[in-house]
Amino acid sequence: MDLELYLKERRGWIDAALEARLPGPGERPGTLHRAMRHSIFAGGKRLRPILCLAAAEACGADPGIALDLAVALECLHTYTLIHDDLPCMDDDDFRRGHPTCHKVFGDGIAVLAGDALQALAFEICGEREDGGVYARELAVTSGSRHLVGGQVLDLEGESKQLSLEELRFVHLSKTAALLTTSVRFGGRAAGASEAQLEALTRFGQASGLAFQVIDDILDVTQTTEKLGKSAGKDLDSSKSTYPALLGLEASREEAHRLTREALEALAIFGDAGSALRALGNYLLERDY
Ligand code: IPE
Ligand code: IPE
Ligand code: MG
Ligand code: MG
Ligand code: MG
Repeated sequence: MDLELYLKERRGWIDAALEARLPGPGERPGTLHRAMRHSIFAGGKRLRPILCLAAAEACGADPGIALDLAVALECLHTYTLIHDDLPCMDDDDFRRGHPTCHKVFGDGIAVLAGDALQALAFEICGEREDGGVYARELAVTSGSRHLVGGQVLDLEGESKQLSLEELRFVHLSKTAALLTTSVRFGGRAAGASEAQLEALTRFGQASGLAFQVIDDILDVTQTTEKLGKSAGKDLDSSKSTYPALLGLEASREEAHRLTREALEALAIFGDAGSALRALGNYLLERDY
């Protein structure tokens, strides 16, 4: 399959669906809606929504049945980025190739734009007939035991040596949890069996962990221009990362090992899982 073309096409669908779902820039309060749109349309890779659609396909469904959930996942993710970049968090000036939300709109509006995107994600889940199931899973994934909890441990891990087990827990919580929910949403929308959902969960956890290990590696090895966000930031703030703990080579090996584990979980899908398989490799091989 031509992955470049596949990603471009999916991004087109997702961007059009986001455009249709976000309040317009002229709608009151204009500042808030412009801030939400600034971060959403700054140009993310759209990996979580793309994984959601690919999981629906792996389970034999038309990906269009999960497009609303894909939009909800991107809204939730973008809220976490806006808050992650705030001066009281990672203090980043640059995201998705543009100045961060708080740099353009100020801290107050950035906090509120994040809040509103998070709320929109739940509103979209709630519009489904079976929305309660999705809303509950998204709440658990993004709450204190997973994403937000991981962000807390990440902050508390600055200037302190975490064990590999602790670091793995941080990365599973702050990043792999939402990637796992992304594929599970697509699978569930497609009417996946318990065995299929279980396989998607294993894929999401292993490839989600690999994804954050690679994010840590790219922070050390890539330029700000290429990443679209400030490189070298983890070292500056003495973050606990895989390269800091294991070194670059061992971190790369770990990402490869996790990707193999992720791909093994997809055996159950046969040919229908080929896009998900290609995406698992892309999460590993990406350079931004
Ligand atoms: C960045 O995620 C935050 C992490 C969890 C590492 P992405 O690398 O998917 O960021 P975008 O959506 O492409 O901007
Ligand atoms: C962020 O991890 C994970 C989130 C939940 C947003 P990072 O702090 O490493 O993400 P980047 O490098 O700023 O994108
Ligand atoms: Mg962070
Ligand atoms: Mg950050
Ligand atoms: Mg990072």
